[in-house]
Amino acid sequence: QMSGQMDGPLSGWRTLVTSGPTHEPIDPVRYIANRSSGKQGHAIAAALARLGAMVTLVSGPTAQPDPAGVTMVHVETARDMLAACQEALPVDVAVCAAAVADWRVKAMAGQKLKKDGGHLPTLELAENPDILATLSRPGRMRPALVVGFAAETEKVVGHARAKLARKGCDWIVANDVSPSSGTFGGASNTVHLLRGDTLEDWPPLSKEAVAERLAMAIADHLVSPAD
Ligand code: CTP
Ligand code: CA
Repeated sequence: QMSGQMDGPLSGWRTLVTSGPTHEPIDPVRYIANRSSGKQGHAIAAALARLGAMVTLVSGPTAQPDPAGVTMVHVETARDMLAACQEALPVDVAVCAAAVADWRVKAMAGQKLKKDGGHLPTLELAENPDILATLSRPGRMRPALVVGFAAETEKVVGHARAKLARKGCDWIVANDVSPSSGTFGGASNTVHLLRGDTLEDWPPLSKEAVAERLAMAIADHLVSPAD
């Protein structure tokens, strides 16, 4: 690993970050996707690398440049993203910031679907694997710290608490994406960090600042896990 601080607080720690959307093909030219710029996940990977961590960044298609000092793995689908994450194990910390498509088309068409005189195609969907829940499952390869995101439009903390329990992760960054929060497409982010039962309300911050603060919290936690 050539960059990052050799003597940073995270030097010697291995980390994995997911970012961006996934694309689930309908046919060779069409896909289903989530709305995601990849800004937050890429900023987290960059912030961890600046603190000296070894970082594997598994990202779906985005317009973001590859951050300096991280090992990049570019993927398309949720299933590819899961496989790339499992390939990156073992790690000490996993941060799942990707906006993974919840469903894929069950059987992708081999050829471009054609319009057929008003006869509409029907897409049969299948559920994608849950990468965060899979990484959180107890076992020898489970990262010591697994962090998820929850983008919610209402009852932000309540939904995030339920998500943390359901997924089995350790922390959740709950993101208020209601229209009034100005998060989507905007520069600023209002998040709450749930560390198990402990709730921290963070002030509105840029995505870069959220990334910086999360990376610092991760570094503090690894040094003194009781906190
Ligand atoms: N996530 C994941 N794999 C999936 C779906 C979600 O790793 N197939 C992760 C996301 O990266 C995020 C967290 O799970 O860290 C929460 O994603 P979200 O879409 O809010 O949760 P879901 O369980 O899919 O619930 P919802 O029905 O609200 O979409
Ligand atoms: Ca989802």
